[in-house]
Amino acid sequence: TDPFPLDLGEWRAGVPMVFASFAVGNELAGTPGATVRLKVDATLTLGTDHNVIAETRTGNAKNVVMVGAHLDSVPEGPGINDNGSGAAAILETALQMRHLPVRNKVRFAFWAAEEPGLLGSDQYVEGLSAAEKDKIRLYLNFDMVASPNYAYKLYDGDDSDAEGSPAGPPGSAQIEKQLAAFFDRRGLAHVGTDFDGRSDYGPFIAAGIPAGGIFTGAEGVKTPQEQALFGGTAGVAYDSCYHQACDTITNIDATALDVNADAIADSVARFAVNTTAVP
Ligand code: PHE
Ligand code: ZN
Ligand code: ZN
Ligand code: ZN
Repeated sequence: TDPFPLDLGEWRAGVPMVFASFAVGNELAGTPGATVRLKVDATLTLGTDHNVIAETRTGNAKNVVMVGAHLDSVPEGPGINDNGSGAAAILETALQMRHLPVRNKVRFAFWAAEEPGLLGSDQYVEGLSAAEKDKIRLYLNFDMVASPNYAYKLYDGDDSDAEGSPAGPPGSAQIEKQLAAFFDRRGLAHVGTDFDGRSDYGPFIAAGIPAGGIFTGAEGVKTPQEQALFGGTAGVAYDSCYHQACDTITNIDATALDVNADAIADSVARFAVNTTAVP
């Protein structure tokens, strides 16, 4: 067997995509009895971008484990927590894969253009044939895994702990359980988070592919219960620099990044050798 199953010389670019985004500002001014003025300013951005996909040379091609993180940021800032954190963690996992003889094919996706609306992952899933979709056993997503005021949030695939979020495709609950087991073994708390399609797993669950992932929080505010579980500061956003210029290298919690990188590697390695837990 090949002792180095992942050859990162095998990078291939995805299909280029063309996208448009609009920024629209409305100004409505009226004086009683006078005509109402409506002013609309619109800017249009057009761009081309590429997903980057790499997969293990070995492993059962009929049983593909996919792992993804988006590589783009919003134009307002460098996007280090969102999503340099997830991209770096899956890249390091890919590099460490060389120590693991895989049984399943593991495919890493670095998505383009998540921020304008999941364009890269959407295009990828749209472009799969029914046969290719069938071979993807599960999808793991990592978007924001080192928030400065973090909580360990697992996508609520079993719909048991995050309110108002729909359950994922069958198998998503088992993915959540496997991620939860990692935190349990370390004696670390975890909570559920809405499985509502707000990141690149959305197109996968819409296609009926089981999915899961970890999230440490964005613009939402930490609760007192979460402060008791994870430390940090209740009443403050998980990431006060979310989508801002200050999402720089100082906007990372090193402990959260370290723990989550380990959780990601643990989960990928387990699924790389065995996916029988996921129907
Ligand atoms: N997708 C959001 C972003 O990139 C962040 C997010 C991730 C929100 C996961 C909810 C759940 O801005
Ligand atoms: Zn974002
Ligand atoms: Zn993101
Ligand atoms: Zn749950």
